[in-house]
Amino acid sequence: MTAAALMAFLHHAAAFALVAMLAAELVLVRGELTVARARQLLRADAIFGISAGVVLAVGALRVGWFEKGASYYFHNVPFIAKLSLFVAVGLLSIYPTVQFLSWRAALKQGQAPQVPEHKLRAIRRVIHWELAGVLLIVLCAALMARGVGFVAPVRAALPAPEGVAKKVAAEMLALARHGMTEAAIARLAPEFDFARMTPLVVGPAWERATPSQRVQLNGEFQRVALRTYAGLLASTPDVALEFGPPRKPAADETELAVHAQLRRSDDKVEIDYLLERTEEGWKIYDLRVDGASLASTWRSEFAAQVRERGIDGLIEALAARNRRAAAAAL
Ligand code: HEM
Repeated sequence: MTAAALMAFLHHAAAFALVAMLAAELVLVRGELTVARARQLLRADAIFGISAGVVLAVGALRVGWFEKGASYYFHNVPFIAKLSLFVAVGLLSIYPTVQFLSWRAALKQGQAPQVPEHKLRAIRRVIHWELAGVLLIVLCAALMARGVGFVAPVRAALPAPEGVAKKVAAEMLALARHGMTEAAIARLAPEFDFARMTPLVVGPAWERATPSQRVQLNGEFQRVALRTYAGLLASTPDVALEFGPPRKPAADETELAVHAQLRRSDDKVEIDYLLERTEEGWKIYDLRVDGASLASTWRSEFAAQVRERGIDGLIEALAARNRRAAAAAL
C-alpha cells in the first residue's frame, strides 16, 4: 500500500468512525438515560473527539504532502467550505461534550444523571446539526477531489511589452551617451531573449558548436548586440524616440512588435521591437530598423565568418569587435 493510499484509508476510516459515533450518540440520547447509557454516551463522545483529531491530522498531511499540494487546496472553494464546516461542527460539538462531561460526578457514584428534558432535546438538536454539517463536508470533499471550484491563482501581471521596450530604450539612451559598461550590459541583457537570439544569428553552426563555444558565442554576441543598439540611439546628440499608443496583448498572444520612431535632426528611423512572452515576462528577441531585421543582418554576416574562419574564428571576431568598442568607451 502506498503512503498516499494509507493516508486516504486512515482519513476515510476516521471519518466513518466520526459519523458512526454521532449516529450512536443520537440513538443513545433518545432513550431513558440509565447509568449504562450515560457511560456509553461519554465513551462515544470520546471516540468522536479522537476520530475528529485523526481526520484533521491526516487531512492536513494529505493537503500538504500526499495529494495535490496545499496551493491547490487553498485555491479550491469546496476545500475552504469543507474546512469551515469542519470548524463549525467542532464548535457545535462543544455543547454536547460539556453536557456529557457534567454527568461524570453522578456516574462516579453509580447514579444516572438527572437531565431535564429540554437539555436532552437541545443535545439532540445540536447532534442533528452536526450530522447535517458532516453531510455537507462529504459533498465538499467529493467536489474538491475532482477540481470543482478551483480558482486559478492570480499571476502577477507581467509588465506591458511597451513598458519593456521603453525601459530598455531609456536606459540605452542614457548609457549610450556615457559608455556601455559591463555592469550596464549585465543589467540590460535579461530584457532580451538571448537564449533565442544567439542560436538564431549563429545559424546552423550553433548545432555544431561545443558547450564551451556556445557560452563564448552567447557572451560575445550579447555585448555586440547591446552595443550596436546603444550605438544606434547615440548616433546623433539630438535623438528622440517616440512610441506609438500602447496596446494590451491578447491573453494567448506570445509574440508582438512594439513600434517606435527614432527622430534625429536630419532623418527619421522606424524601429520595431520584436518581443516574445516568456515565463519571466516579455523579452526582446529582435529589432527591425527601417524594416530590416538586425538578427537577419547578423545571421548572414556571421555565416560568412563561420565559412571563412570556423566557429572559433567567429568568436574571435566578435571578441575583437567588443574589445575595440570597449576601448572607444561604447
Ligand atoms: C468530518 C470531516 C471530514 C470528512 C467526513 C471528510 C471526508 C472526505 C472524503 C469522503 C474524501 C474523499 C473524496 C473523494 O475522493 O471523492 C476526502 C478527501 C480529502 N479530505 Fe477530507 N474529510 C473531512 C475533513 C477533512 C479535513 C479537516 C481536511 C484537511 C485539513 C481534509 C482533507 C482532505 C483531503 C486533502 C482529501 C483528498 C482530496 C483529493 O483527492 O484531492 N478532510 N475527505
